[in-house]
Amino acid sequence: MSAAAPLDVAAVRARFPALRRNEQVFLDAPAGTQVPDAVIEAVAGYLRESNANLGGAFGTSRRSDELVGHARTTAARFLGCTAEEVVFGANSTTLNFHLSRTAGRDFLPGDEIVCTRLDHDANIAPWLELAHDRGLTVRVADFRDDGSLDLDDLARLIGPRTRVVACTWASNALGTVNDVARVAALAHAAGALAWIDAVHWAPHGPIDVAAIGADVLLCSPYKFYGPHLGLAFVRAALLGGWRPYKVRPSDPFPLGHRHETGTAAHELLAGFVAAVEHIEGLGWPAIQAQERALGERFLAGLPPNTRLHGLPAMEGRVATFCVSVDGVAPAEAARRLAEKGFAVWDGDFYAHEVMPRLGLPDGAVRIGFVHYNTRDEVDGVLAALAGLE
Ligand SMILES: Cc1ncc(COP(=O)(O)O)c(C=O)c1O
Repeated sequence: MSAAAPLDVAAVRARFPALRRNEQVFLDAPAGTQVPDAVIEAVAGYLRESNANLGGAFGTSRRSDELVGHARTTAARFLGCTAEEVVFGANSTTLNFHLSRTAGRDFLPGDEIVCTRLDHDANIAPWLELAHDRGLTVRVADFRDDGSLDLDDLARLIGPRTRVVACTWASNALGTVNDVARVAALAHAAGALAWIDAVHWAPHGPIDVAAIGADVLLCSPYKFYGPHLGLAFVRAALLGGWRPYKVRPSDPFPLGHRHETGTAAHELLAGFVAAVEHIEGLGWPAIQAQERALGERFLAGLPPNTRLHGLPAMEGRVATFCVSVDGVAPAEAARRLAEKGFAVWDGDFYAHEVMPRLGLPDGAVRIGFVHYNTRDEVDGVLAALAGLE
């Protein structure tokens, strides 16, 4: 357990206009979090004061250059990499299609990609499409009935033709946290790249790409209190070696910029910086202690008319919960929870392989807690779940 000073949740909530409105209880964070005033101000401030394209001799353009540089160093700090290893994009899915196509330019027919059944389709479909185009084989590692990744199955599927092992750090459906350092070690032992989807992990804990041994890692700032944007780390040696899909006049440096097409959403980069500063200001230990306490409370109070899919305690998971309600279809449960003021999602959450594996053709209900949620909100949704029949 972390010894962090408890988070002043009321003070944190006061920073978020959406939470100040008291319109609904936001348990939809796995699909995107709310943003603090500082992020909104940063986006608006850029547009008011610095709006321009890059590389000009005049003030607004110079300030834009500075902002993009600042966004790169902020991302580098957030991910544990160098600023040149940062690639910004529209969202993780777009970045993953782009980077996988780039990486795959020299893959040969018969080469193999290993994915996992726990992954969001954003880290499977790009490989299926690449496989279609280049005659590759995609193998998909299973997860166990408790929602944990079957590392033995993953290890079995990796072989001499494996070029990439693509794995999510945390499941956006079940909340499982995978041992991605182990996954990366297995990939590297076979000479393959470790391609990590950190989209669902990023709001819940620190990232150090060197410590886990990632070659590529993706995340999405709109899942961690920032604007709608995608962000990737790619190891410098890869960035330098890959032939980029880029227009010829575009600057080949910093390295990551080779893989950014067109004009970036500068205002969103400003918001991204403010989102990282929000997290840094609170500190991960305090955030994690708060989320763990909420998760434990939720698990302890789950009513008997619900069935949890995934790990039954907070060890090995984040506070994202996938539940079925006896006799109530997931879409109906989400609708009735919305009527009572709780924003939750239902379906498969694009974790396309998870629900068939669990035998849930209509998916399930997903309830996600982040640091701005409260104990009262946990109790409220538990009571609302108990009232569904
Ligand atoms: C685990 C995971 N990976 C990838 C994605 C796709 O992210 P984006 O919306 O930035 O493309 C999501 C979005 O929900 C996700 O949860």
